[in-house]
Amino acid sequence: MGLSAFLVIVILAALSPSSISQVQDFVSIDCGGTAGNYTDPSTGLEWTPDSGLMAFGRSTAALNSTDSPRVYQTRRDFPVDDQKYCYTLRTEERRRYLVRATFRYGDLGTEETFPKFQLYLDTTKWTTVAVYDAGRVYVEEMIIRASSGSVDVCLCCATTGVPFISSLELRPLNLSIYATNFEDSFFLEVAARVNFGALTADAIRYPDDPYDRIWESDLAKRQNFLVGVAPGTERINTSRDINVRTRECPPVKVMQTAVVGTEGTLSYRLNLEDFPANARAYAYFAEIEDLDANETRKFRLIEPQLPEYNNAVVNIIENANGSYTLYEPSYMNVSLDFVLSFAFRKTSDSIRGPLLNAMEISRYVEVAPKTSNQDVTAVEAIRMMSAGTVLTDQGDPCLPVSWEWVSCGSTTPPRVIKISLSGKDLKGSIPSVLNDMDQLTELWLDGNMLSGYFPDLSNLRALRILHVENNNLTGPLPSYLGVLPSLLELHVENNTFSGDIPADLLSGKIKFMYGGNSGLHKRSDRRRIWLIVGASVGILAVLALLSVGVMFFLPCRRKKSFLQSFKKGDSTRTSSKPSAAYSIPRGNHLREDGLSHYIALADLEVATERFAKKIGRGSFGSVFYGRMKDGKEVAVKIMDDSSSNGHQQFATEVALLSRIHHRNLVPLIGFCEEEHQRILVYEFMHNGTLRDHLHDPVKQKQLSWLTRLKIAEDSAKGLEYLHTGCNPTIIHRDVKTSNILLDVNMRAKVSDFGLSRQADEDLTHISSVARGTVGYLDPEYYGNQQLTEKSDVYSFGVVLLELISGRKPVSAEDYGADYNIVHWARALIRRGDVVSVVDPALGGTYKLESIWRVAEVALQCVEQYSSSRPRMQEIIVAVQDAIKIENASEENRAVSPGSSKAHSARKTLLTSFLEVESPDLSNDCYIPSAR
Ligand SMILES: *[C@@H]1O[C@H](CO)[C@@H](O)[C@H](O)[C@H]1NC(C)=O
Ligand SMILES: *[C@@H]1O[C@H](CO)[C@@H](O)[C@H](O)[C@H]1NC(C)=O
Ligand SMILES: *[C@@H]1O[C@H](CO)[C@@H](O)[C@H](O)[C@H]1NC(C)=O
Ligand SMILES: *[C@@H]1O[C@H](CO)[C@@H](O)[C@H](O)[C@H]1NC(C)=O
Ligand SMILES: *[C@@H]1O[C@H](CO)[C@@H](O)[C@H](O)[C@H]1NC(C)=O
Ligand SMILES: *[C@@H]1O[C@H](CO)[C@@H](O)[C@H](O)[C@H]1NC(C)=O
Repeated sequence: MGLSAFLVIVILAALSPSSISQVQDFVSIDCGGTAGNYTDPSTGLEWTPDSGLMAFGRSTAALNSTDSPRVYQTRRDFPVDDQKYCYTLRTEERRRYLVRATFRYGDLGTEETFPKFQLYLDTTKWTTVAVYDAGRVYVEEMIIRASSGSVDVCLCCATTGVPFISSLELRPLNLSIYATNFEDSFFLEVAARVNFGALTADAIRYPDDPYDRIWESDLAKRQNFLVGVAPGTERINTSRDINVRTRECPPVKVMQTAVVGTEGTLSYRLNLEDFPANARAYAYFAEIEDLDANETRKFRLIEPQLPEYNNAVVNIIENANGSYTLYEPSYMNVSLDFVLSFAFRKTSDSIRGPLLNAMEISRYVEVAPKTSNQDVTAVEAIRMMSAGTVLTDQGDPCLPVSWEWVSCGSTTPPRVIKISLSGKDLKGSIPSVLNDMDQLTELWLDGNMLSGYFPDLSNLRALRILHVENNNLTGPLPSYLGVLPSLLELHVENNTFSGDIPADLLSGKIKFMYGGNSGLHKRSDRRRIWLIVGASVGILAVLALLSVGVMFFLPCRRKKSFLQSFKKGDSTRTSSKPSAAYSIPRGNHLREDGLSHYIALADLEVATERFAKKIGRGSFGSVFYGRMKDGKEVAVKIMDDSSSNGHQQFATEVALLSRIHHRNLVPLIGFCEEEHQRILVYEFMHNGTLRDHLHDPVKQKQLSWLTRLKIAEDSAKGLEYLHTGCNPTIIHRDVKTSNILLDVNMRAKVSDFGLSRQADEDLTHISSVARGTVGYLDPEYYGNQQLTEKSDVYSFGVVLLELISGRKPVSAEDYGADYNIVHWARALIRRGDVVSVVDPALGGTYKLESIWRVAEVALQCVEQYSSSRPRMQEIIVAVQDAIKIENASEENRAVSPGSSKAHSARKTLLTSFLEVESPDLSNDCYIPSAR
């Protein structure tokens, strides 16, 4: 039962749907909203009033807004003070999100002034909200990668008017959408997201955009927004579907409209809020006009600020590989001014003028450090002792403004240096985590209702002043208090402390006040000496015990013999004598064609020294090392009987295989069929299997990401050749890392192909059991027995995931019993966390974008339905893209978007998207199609 039951479990698990409705992940808060939840009729989004989330400020009606969506009819106003007011939103760590805050004041009363205040995301300054038009909805969007389980959106520091907010939204993003090389240290503040050629002035958002981005119409009226339009600019649209399955996935509706420069130029000028700055910029192109065969549309970007990009020529159809398909070049890092003016101009040999569907520009915002974690934990613990609603401070304890009862130093990251909680109704015992606040200089906890023992605060080496008087603390005063290096003042009056006072406290160096503790008294010296002696004896005893223990339990490691792992070859196999019956003509006849030739069993016995050195086990039998008379090293595969398909079958297969030549396929040198033995002789591959390199503890971890990419490219080319270069098409059926062999130069070749029937035969006559290896097996093929080349694509997707992660396809240890690499990686990659998938052995020596390119195509490969999977050709293109990205990053590994190095690295990315190489078809197939 074992294997098949296990297979069924694995397959069923692979089929089970894992997606839940996206809308449920949306957080939509109607700030100042009064009634209960409601659904907005135009978007279908459900809004929740903020009354349960925000205890401060007051709900205010935004006047003159009865015709605007309900969410803008109320706002929440906050007090004008030196506090900050924060909304805390739950996030999934490492996931990317769009955070959006909107501000619509409504009407300005006669007494009121326009509000101007600060918006923060955690401790990072987001923007200054300055209202000049009370009726306008000010939208602020930030794309973030969550660094923890929550994010705070805070308002503070009003310079005029009151801080207020109308709505707050959180939208999770999938896959590599808006991934940047800098996302651990920079957020992306959206400065412009424009839909060109829009049909109306209304923005496009959910449900047209499943991620609910807001695509502003180019017809929207605003000061200095898309001015300087070139003459001859026309708006075009289509109702045909557009393939948008790339990177940022803009909504189809946005891509269905565009502007074209009929006189050869498109130009625009607009203001970018909060600029000059470094930016991430995206252009979205899709050819939505039907061009005649003799027509071309080629154009250049003319942008004075970016002279180095001006030579890149866009030819949408060519770049996107067809009409009605998105082409999305982007600049990872450009520095732009407040006024952005740009133009696209047609090249002299182009018939049509330039076209633009949409664009996006975001500003890099450096993530500010948060207050040191240990301090946050400690002040949170103290806050929990609050009996009333006194301690309601929110957000980060120090930034942008510190909590009322906390003072912070100006270090990076900020540290808490003072806590002032005199007479604040605190209950319970003093939390022991306070001991981690090693920068604390003053601690005021007097006049509360604290009880319990005095905690261990011996780490507070900076502490100068400590007040715990007028509480109900009990027990002895710990002796370390006397030796805290910085302590100047200690107040413990009016508690119920008892026992001896540590002598150091009475030495006069410290101002020590202890009245009102009836149980406290000065200690006698005799007891103290005994204590020291006792402690020393104790410590010595423990030390002695420990050293004895170490000697006994020291593990004696012995190296396991390396040779032990090589078993002797099965010598009984070789005892057979050569037989005279050959199913196909021997030796010389075939050799004349330059094809593989017949090799006598006796020769093979000599070459392999009677099959002495077994080097592996392939899908069809054991493999032995050999050296032919002419010195050529070979791998000799003895086919298992169970895989035999009859004489004629073997003969045809060998004839077929011997004609397949491709530099990424392991060449067949010869064969032998004697005494029920079927033997294939292949070129020997010095570096063994990819599996060994990825998973073998000895060889493991020698593969850099670039090497892995080249292995992926090589093996994909080999498979592509089997699928499209051969007639009939050959489906490998057992693609896996142990069938990918590495030659002396670490170039990969696919082995074990074509050993089963060819595709055309299989489509009509299907075996009852699916062939393949657990973990690599296409669930669709397993389910319906329909074998296509997309089954190889599925298995290759698993290989790609292995290359990225360095993990095995199935492993109860890694993923649990009914789980595999596909589930594991898919869940992480879909929610945008490719970093957790990456092999730790790569140690950060890779470019994230190149990983993304491969991860996304790998996920497509393991799609449940074969129709959604790409062809090998598309996989090759993706891997080649990744290689280019990776190579570009080799010369300059950029750390921050501010560095000019990152700048030039991006240029190569753009160019790489402009000139995606055509596939390597240099190897013609030698198989005569007459077969
Ligand atoms: C994002 O991923 C989740 C889970 O994988 C899926 O349910 C959702 O539909 C995806 N969203 C979009 C817009 O593709
Ligand atoms: C309102 O929406 C929130 C968030 O979606 C949800 O937690 C809450 O249960 C809803 N309340 C009602 C009354 O449906
Ligand atoms: C708001 O409405 C009031 C009364 O309806 C009107 O007097 C005022 O001019 C309006 N303000 C704006 C900005 O439209
Ligand atoms: C393209 O070909 C069509 C006929 O096939 C012709 O009418 C048209 O003038 C040609 N256009 C150009 C720009 O050469
Ligand atoms: C102080 O603590 C003691 C014992 O822990 C308790 O009996 C006493 O009632 C407390 N006094 C006050 C005023 O809380
Ligand atoms: C201790 O308690 C007494 C009596 O309640 C009070 O007079 C005195 O001021 C207190 N000491 C301090 C330091 O508060």
